[in-house]
Amino acid sequence: MALRSRITGIGSYLPPQVVTNDDLTEFMDTSDEWITQRTGIKQRHWVDSAGVTTSDLALEAAREAMAMAGVEAGDLDMIFLATISPDHFFPGTAVFLQRKLGAPGIPAIDVRQQCTGFIYGTSMADQYIRTGMAERVLVVGAEIHSKGLDISTEGRDVAVLFGDGAGAMVLEAADITDPATERHILSTHLHADGTYAEDLWVPAPGMAVGTRMVTHDIVDRKLVYPKMNGRNVYVHAVKRMPEAIRESLDANGVQLDEVDLFVFHQANLRINEAVAQRMGIPPEKVYNTIEQFANTTAATIPIGLAEAAKEGRLKPGMMVSSTAFGSGFTWASMLYRW
Ligand code: UT7
Repeated sequence: MALRSRITGIGSYLPPQVVTNDDLTEFMDTSDEWITQRTGIKQRHWVDSAGVTTSDLALEAAREAMAMAGVEAGDLDMIFLATISPDHFFPGTAVFLQRKLGAPGIPAIDVRQQCTGFIYGTSMADQYIRTGMAERVLVVGAEIHSKGLDISTEGRDVAVLFGDGAGAMVLEAADITDPATERHILSTHLHADGTYAEDLWVPAPGMAVGTRMVTHDIVDRKLVYPKMNGRNVYVHAVKRMPEAIRESLDANGVQLDEVDLFVFHQANLRINEAVAQRMGIPPEKVYNTIEQFANTTAATIPIGLAEAAKEGRLKPGMMVSSTAFGSGFTWASMLYRW
């Protein structure tokens, strides 16, 4: 018998407003053709009200996941919330989610690993469960990117890529006797290389830029918007994601063709197609949502799982592989029986 994490609930939430590629042409010199060809994105969801926060989206996704698991706020032992679009500079967004859920007292931890944040959060939750420190853990990825993008022709290379949304997962401790057949997380594998930190980042506000954290100069130089070396992100992503998938398969003695579904991070459809092609994964085994939701950073994987489950593409007992690559650079993988 071994103590392992079982996924008992999954949920997602997308704000109602849909913004198509054509809608973006109102704000910047771009086209549906350019965006579709390079990224596969056709539309994204953006919040339509100043009052909506990242923790609000997280709350909706968490409620859905907890309802599926039959878990109340008072049953939770820990909360991990992965986001790069926090409600405030501090405290972390996890405490706002905790307050809205009504689960005072338990640890509420923000994860700052960008596109890889959900797998980092799941990995940490898994370690607490394996060591018997926690029995029920909520892991959430949530983002409101739309308020933080440079929605102009100058910012178009990044602005077209990102959407708002949230996904959540409930993990519960399970005593596993037959690891080959029982539903659980087999393993998680985390990596980072700060050499490339400036290839995808938001330079300010922060303590490394100037003598004051916020100045008119910082705003005028648009240092508060994401900057990306898109080519370099692409080159590293298509190398690191296959490596991470292979690492998780080798760690568990699982063959590639034993995986039923691949639910990757959604940065760019071209990245995911290249990863599948390099590894010899049949396209029908890769579940993508980027066409509808664009890149929701920490939320893409749980949103993908929730959507795949609702569509009946993801069924209990399936072997699933997830991998992500993003800012940092960070990359990671997880292998699990759903
Ligand atoms: O993890 C976060 C998401 N990150 C990624 O997805 C990174 C992966 N990177 C990529 O997939 C590609 O680098 C992009 C899709 C982001 C960009 O494709 P690219 O072929 O590397 O484009 P580019 O930056 O070299 O730009 C090509 C042209 C430029 O015009 P000129 O200089 O050739 O006249 C850009 O100004 O496309 C122009 N351009 C756009 N045109 C219309 C850049 N963004 C846009 C846009 N609409 N949104």
